[in-house]
Amino acid sequence: MRQEIRTKFKELFHTEGELYASPGRINLIGEHTDYNGGFVFPGAVDKGMIAEIKPNGSNKVKAFALDLNEYAEFGLTEEEAPTASWARYIFGVCREIIKRGGKIEGFDTVFSGDVPLGAGMSSSAALESTYAFALNDLYNLGIDKFELAKIGQATEHNYCGVNCGIMDQFASVFGKAGSLIRLDCRSLEYKYYPFNPVGYKLVLLDSVVKHELASSAYNKRRQSCENVVEAIRRRHPEVEFLRDASMEMLNEVKGEVSAEDYMRAEYVIEEIQRVLDVCAALEKGDYETVGQKMYETHHGMSKLYEVSCEELDFLNDIAKECGVTGSRVMGGGFGGCTINLVKEELYDNFVHKAFTAYKERFGHEPKLYDVVISDGSRKIG
Ligand code: GLA
Repeated sequence: MRQEIRTKFKELFHTEGELYASPGRINLIGEHTDYNGGFVFPGAVDKGMIAEIKPNGSNKVKAFALDLNEYAEFGLTEEEAPTASWARYIFGVCREIIKRGGKIEGFDTVFSGDVPLGAGMSSSAALESTYAFALNDLYNLGIDKFELAKIGQATEHNYCGVNCGIMDQFASVFGKAGSLIRLDCRSLEYKYYPFNPVGYKLVLLDSVVKHELASSAYNKRRQSCENVVEAIRRRHPEVEFLRDASMEMLNEVKGEVSAEDYMRAEYVIEEIQRVLDVCAALEKGDYETVGQKMYETHHGMSKLYEVSCEELDFLNDIAKECGVTGSRVMGGGFGGCTINLVKEELYDNFVHKAFTAYKERFGHEPKLYDVVISDGSRKIG
């Protein structure tokens, strides 16, 4: 991939730039908890985005998306926002840096990636982190890593219409080989947990379902959580996020919120606790409990938060049938992958069964990704 980027860059711009990379992420547990001030447990993976960049002395960004074979050119003021969605990520990152007082100018760039798009592995965060990290480095802006993650998140909010939490960008920037990160999304305190489940494999099965309305459905979930917080605050003004709420508090307002908002909040309150339970289980090497919590998450995401779909539920059922230790839909949902914690001796049977049964039911196979937990944003050449 690096060589292809270099070759294209040379062909387009007749010079050479610096290479930067940022990864996608997995998340062991803690879904839709980040924007509720709760905990998440992600790790960066060995798949991501790579970009070659060189300042070009003008005020224009000239960008080429190698995988899409598309070129875009834009300036750095609001009026010059590009229309292509991939270019808006780069533009958004530039704008967010400028808003924070960062002095940047035009640059030439080519990028490519091997993190699957729309699979729940945060290809967009990988792209944002790549450019935030690169521009910070190239222009010596002195922005710290927390702020780099926030720049990516603000790009989603302000230029891409997704009111996401901080998990994806944080994992992409702060990833560490061999470790998952337990992140408190309110304080941004984090702790690395070496993750090496001997005798198990971590496998992603991609349903290859991409849901068109994912961003509006996502924003709607977030709105439900905020509605419930507002209702609880009338009695408990100290509650800032669902993170601070208990099931008792939720039940007090049951008659004041919609049945749908109630279910959403119930899921989130339980899910925040599950992350803590999984961390405690991991410290004891108790993978059975880790797996059981993953199944509970799937159930909650499917029945209460309603961000699963038929295909993902099907993959989850097969995992259960095959005796897989833990399995659940990963990321925002509405399509994408399940993450599976599988005993090595069951791996072949599970994968075979999942592929054949899925094909029989949906007419095509899922995709399989073995992931290695890897480092975050970095300069690579
Ligand atoms: C998406 C968002 C994250 C997070 C997850 C769900 O990946 O970008 O902020 O909310 O969904 O856990």
